[in-house]
Amino acid sequence: MAAVVVVIPVGWAIAGDLVPEIPPAKGEHCVEPTDVMRRHHMDFILHQRDETMHRGIRTEKFELEECLGCHVRKGPDGEYPRYPSPKHFCNSCHSYAAVHIDCFSCHNDVPPEEESEDSDSSDGGSAE
Ligand code: HEC
Ligand code: HEC
Ligand code: HEC
Repeated sequence: MAAVVVVIPVGWAIAGDLVPEIPPAKGEHCVEPTDVMRRHHMDFILHQRDETMHRGIRTEKFELEECLGCHVRKGPDGEYPRYPSPKHFCNSCHSYAAVHIDCFSCHNDVPPEEESEDSDSSDGGSAE
């Protein structure tokens, strides 16, 4: 009678090679520090959680489009990955962690076209 407790890891870094492959973002940093985003991104974007509730983190209104503008990048085929694909930033972890969200039944899962023409990407940054 071994009790197995399944905990969704929120500190991915400790999971060795079992980590999901998270597509790299555009830009130098996120709207909040990366480890905060890793654990608390839902607090910034869930409709019903835009009041302060969690560990004193003050949430503001964020637009999903902004998130996607940095995080959803075209693949080698010139197409945006769509949410059902684990190559879509938001699903890279969710598919791994079996998190289900319905956001993209209403919201677009790719950035608006104008945002995606990033020919002005001013600084060096992450040209790997
Ligand atoms: C039933 C349709 C529906 C679903 C499902 C839905 N939303 Fe929304 N969402 C809306 C509408 C309508 C607005 C208001 C749009 C506006 O203000 O332009 C909105 C606004 C937002 C905004 C702020 C403005 C923006 O456009 O980004 C965020 C962030 C957001 N939703 C995130 C989410 C997330 C995260 C989920 C999934 C947990 C979700 N939504 C699911 C309909 C939906
Ligand atoms: C200006 C570009 C930009 C915007 C806008 C942005 N991010 Fe980020 N985000 C980043 C960068 C850069 C990182 C650091 C990880 C990386 O380099 O890929 C990051 C990290 C993250 C992580 C952690 C990923 C990991 O590797 O563990 C999550 C989750 C995240 N962002 C969600 C969001 C959400 C949700 C929004 C919208 C509210 C958003 N981001 C808006 C650039 C952005
Ligand atoms: C670094 C991995 C990672 C990335 C990238 C990521 N998520 Fe998550 N997300 C999670 C995990 C893990 C959970 C469940 C955590 C929990 O319940 O505490 C979660 C939960 C959520 C929830 C709450 C679901 C619920 O019903 O409570 C929403 C909404 C959400 N993510 C939206 C997004 C969106 C939108 C993106 C892309 C902009 C995104 N996530 C990118 C790991 C990630």
